[in-house]
Amino acid sequence: MQSLENTGQQVIINDGDTAASVQQQLETVHSNMKEAFPEIARVAVAIYDHGTDRLKTFIHSTEGAVPFSHYEAALGEVPILASLAAAHQDRRVSDLTVLGPDHVRSQKVIEAGYLSSYTRPFFNRGQLIGFLFFDARKKAYFDNITLHHLSTFSHLISLLVINGLTPAQMLRSSVNVARDLSRYRDQETGAHLDRMSRYARVIANDIAVEKALSDEFVEFVFLFSPLHDIGKIGIEDSILLKPAQLTEAEFAIMKTHVTKGVRMVDAIIGDFGLTDLPHTEMLRNIVRFHHECFDGNGYMEGLIGEAIPLEARIVMVADIFDALTSKRPYKEAWSVERALQFLKDKSGTMLDPRCVNALIENLSEIETIKARFTDDEIEEVGFREAYFSEI
Ligand SMILES: [Fe+2]
Ligand SMILES: [Fe+2]
Repeated sequence: MQSLENTGQQVIINDGDTAASVQQQLETVHSNMKEAFPEIARVAVAIYDHGTDRLKTFIHSTEGAVPFSHYEAALGEVPILASLAAAHQDRRVSDLTVLGPDHVRSQKVIEAGYLSSYTRPFFNRGQLIGFLFFDARKKAYFDNITLHHLSTFSHLISLLVINGLTPAQMLRSSVNVARDLSRYRDQETGAHLDRMSRYARVIANDIAVEKALSDEFVEFVFLFSPLHDIGKIGIEDSILLKPAQLTEAEFAIMKTHVTKGVRMVDAIIGDFGLTDLPHTEMLRNIVRFHHECFDGNGYMEGLIGEAIPLEARIVMVADIFDALTSKRPYKEAWSVERALQFLKDKSGTMLDPRCVNALIENLSEIETIKARFTDDEIEEVGFREAYFSEI
């Protein structure tokens, strides 16, 4: 982590990764826009998850009060945006104050001091990626000339979001392929990764405010969490797929999936030329620390409590909950109630209590994800489609 001395306080200027976060890139673009568009006080991006049909706030650059973050909704619940996406159309509102009270976003935006807005869906290869929001402090700011000049910037912001997400999505896909080509698929299905990564996002989102996590952090927890067990690809089948309890010696080998995983991640980042990938430290932390227990009895390093990176604590809860509630070659699927009881029993010893609570408090969302991504469906979809739908 880089830091600089400033009135005795540590000011973080970089979150530890070599690549700038997508948020930092947006802030740079926004500050470059100031001269041409002094009244645009806010630029925000929400992104869309095709798997769950949900839209979620992602990054923003805001002068003054932040109207909202950590906001999530089904696209169908926001009909104006759904229709813009369907028609590939943008939309300007010259006077936000004339919109009715049913416009939740508009009300919050007005309260924060913005009077006109411009919204634009953006796509990659025909697929909806998300929406750009520009808010101005003046009424009727987005006239035709302004929009003409703004189009360069909206294109640039779309690209930086797509470029920020694509390497992480490529990594997810490469892990899916590697898993599908190895016998590891017999143990954990693609649906397991679809579910547990979304459970992890739900947990991260729940604790985001108190832990000061950005929406971008939450999204990258989702993108990277399926890679937690990548090192298992390097574990021999006789141990990985053994239907009985592992011997001590076998378990010692099994544990090395953590260190093997970190080496694989570094190799993939090198081979794919993903040195610009944001949050690579988070990715390494997930792979390296997802078996550390809250009380220090985990492996490989025996870290305790808050010393375990938060992203690894989140992933552990999400992963275990899904492992318990799924059928595996060696066990039947547990009921949600039984799995929750297990999480409660392990809260504070194996698991971070706050992450356990976050999952319990969002049970309806967890159940929706569980119902949406079933193992049968993935089998029907098949390998090729499952692979390409990730890109
Ligand atoms: Fe693992
Ligand atoms: Fe897992």
